[in-house]
Amino acid sequence: MEILNHSVVLARRPDGNPVEEDFRVESAPLPLLGEGEFLCKNHFVSLDAGFRKWMNEGSGDEVLPAMAIGEPVMGLVLSEVVDSLNGDYPVGTWLMARFAWQEYSVSDGSDFIAVLPGNLEFPPSAYMGVLGDTGMSAYFGMTELGQPQPGETVLISGAGGGVGSIAGQISKMRGAYTVGIVGSEDKARWITEELGYDAAVIRGDDLAAWIASACPDGVDLFFDNVGGTLLEAAISAMNHRGRLVLCGAVSGYGDEEPAPGPSNMFEVVTRELSIQGFMTHFRHERYDEAREQLATWLREGKLVSPEHRLQGIDNVARAYADLFAGRNFGKTVVEL
Ligand SMILES: NC(=O)c1ccc[n+]([C@@H]2O[C@H](COP(=O)([O-])OP(=O)(O)OC[C@H]3O[C@@H](n4cnc5c(N)ncnc54)[C@H](OP(=O)(O)O)[C@@H]3O)[C@@H](O)[C@H]2O)c1
Repeated sequence: MEILNHSVVLARRPDGNPVEEDFRVESAPLPLLGEGEFLCKNHFVSLDAGFRKWMNEGSGDEVLPAMAIGEPVMGLVLSEVVDSLNGDYPVGTWLMARFAWQEYSVSDGSDFIAVLPGNLEFPPSAYMGVLGDTGMSAYFGMTELGQPQPGETVLISGAGGGVGSIAGQISKMRGAYTVGIVGSEDKARWITEELGYDAAVIRGDDLAAWIASACPDGVDLFFDNVGGTLLEAAISAMNHRGRLVLCGAVSGYGDEEPAPGPSNMFEVVTRELSIQGFMTHFRHERYDEAREQLATWLREGKLVSPEHRLQGIDNVARAYADLFAGRNFGKTVVEL
């Protein structure tokens, strides 16, 4: 029986934040497997802010080529191998992979793939969220780079999103006074009541003054998911020898041209700040270690992993628009 594969394709290049109309669903029969290939049933699509950048014209780089109009949109998915002509990926193997937003994917193993442990201890979507690229970004950014210390003040932007919701909890576990920047009052209440943040700042006018009042002892560590004006405001709030860990810059992903940098970079000099960016996928060899630590915290009840979950391939575009509109509380996923 012929199986139709439904895919989300790029209908047009988003102008700024993506909206549902930038995408459409198309269907095509599944191809037969060639030598060395295997067929994956994608159970969950992970909606990740960072992939927005490759929807821009001419945005290709060493990580991904620019996405093409009319072609399936690339992202991260949670998959199960359901047919295989490749001994390295037998039927029943679970993967987190960089595949397209599709119900099924065919691979020869050359894609970016992380094989998951044999018996999944946690609900499958967790392996894309708290135990996937999202949680690991929070883990590496906080434990390897930022290293919050007890009594320090940590400021996190995008604090109620996928990465930010985990980063805030790790910061609290390490004994830091933890403040989150979010886009709405509802999210501000949610991150303090449900995620344990000590205080929240709502992004908007007068950000510098709001950060100053929420961080009376200044900021020792800024974990940035947003960039732009938030990064500029944070630089001015940093204490001497403060650290800035740059995880992402979602406010600029829609820009065709790179936005000008912060105007206050000389404060980096005068206050001896250190700034470090990172990419989680360059730590591929440490995924097992990161997943095990995050799993331990889940088992111990020290970590919660909130999800903004929608159902079905027809809702993938809506979920992505939700993420950029800040309507997501926690990790955004679609169950296929
Ligand atoms: N370095 C790495 O290896 C790595 C890996 C994964 C993710 N990341 C980065 O981590 C960040 C978070 O990613 P995520 O997928 O977990 O997304 P997310 O945090 O779940 O969602 C993005 C959040 O950013 C805020 N936001 C969206 N558009 C914005 C805009 N134009 N200006 C300011 N804020 C905006 C919204 O929160 P509010 O409305 O509440 O502010 C939204 O909820 C992204 O920058 C992503 O690129 C980096």
